[in-house]
Amino acid sequence: MVHGTVDGIRDAVAGLRDARRTVALVPTMGALHDGHLALVRRARAIADAVVVSIFVNPLQFGAGEDLDRYPRTLDADVAALAREGVELVFAPSAAEMYPEGAVETSVVAGHVGSLYEGASRPGHFDGMLTVVAKLFHIVQPDTAVFGQKDAQQVFLVRRMVADLNAPLAIEVVPTVREADGLALSSRNRYLDADGRRAALALSESLAAAEAAAGEGLDEVLAEAAAAFGDHEAIELDYLVVVDPATFLPVDEEATGEATVLVAARVGGTRLIDNAGIVLG
Ligand code: PAF
Repeated sequence: MVHGTVDGIRDAVAGLRDARRTVALVPTMGALHDGHLALVRRARAIADAVVVSIFVNPLQFGAGEDLDRYPRTLDADVAALAREGVELVFAPSAAEMYPEGAVETSVVAGHVGSLYEGASRPGHFDGMLTVVAKLFHIVQPDTAVFGQKDAQQVFLVRRMVADLNAPLAIEVVPTVREADGLALSSRNRYLDADGRRAALALSESLAAAEAAAGEGLDEVLAEAAAAFGDHEAIELDYLVVVDPATFLPVDEEATGEATVLVAARVGGTRLIDNAGIVLG
């Protein structure tokens, strides 16, 4: 079930295709939680067979980021995926994915890739799109499933699929949250008790934005930012309201559907979240 080589996973997927089974890919970096399992369950519902990739992609981490300490829990991940009935796991090494060490050819995320997460993490989205493109070529799924929690990632993956005519569908699954509202993330495990409490500022700011949506953009931003005043251990990185069609910031006159994006630091941990609102 677990394949570490490109040839191995390609042969296994070819076997599924010979049996005329449709394939959904769930790309992950491992350290699986219930949010990932929601992606797997959606994948199972829409395809005959599910491939989950587990690869902590060095290309999407900048200098000084958490590549080395990013949680790696392969045995537990594989056991969880077996319980979900996943047929195939692709868990390559960095040397298998990048045999030359670096890539000479890569995907460039463009203007939206340089905003928000891309401004705080230069090169992150180029690295993310490059590995996602490689995974699409290796597995050649009918559908790939992503989580709405990484809204900018979803926008850029959809845009890459459209721009490059990639022959697959993209399926997006709503964010899974703890009972108190914190969005599930593999990075939540870095948080101590104080940090965990402070991290609630993200979901609280989104709730405040939703509540103020009828009052217009300025009020949304003011109310959402105010949620960070209640927590000392968290530092707001960005808070922005974007048009879901372009992913560019909306202006004060905007009405209708919009997406609120928020990112913050709790100690050395960056957390992100987002929510859809209707500006009135
Ligand atoms: O969202 C993630 O976990 C990663 O960005 C992805 C899509 C698996 C690419 O490395």
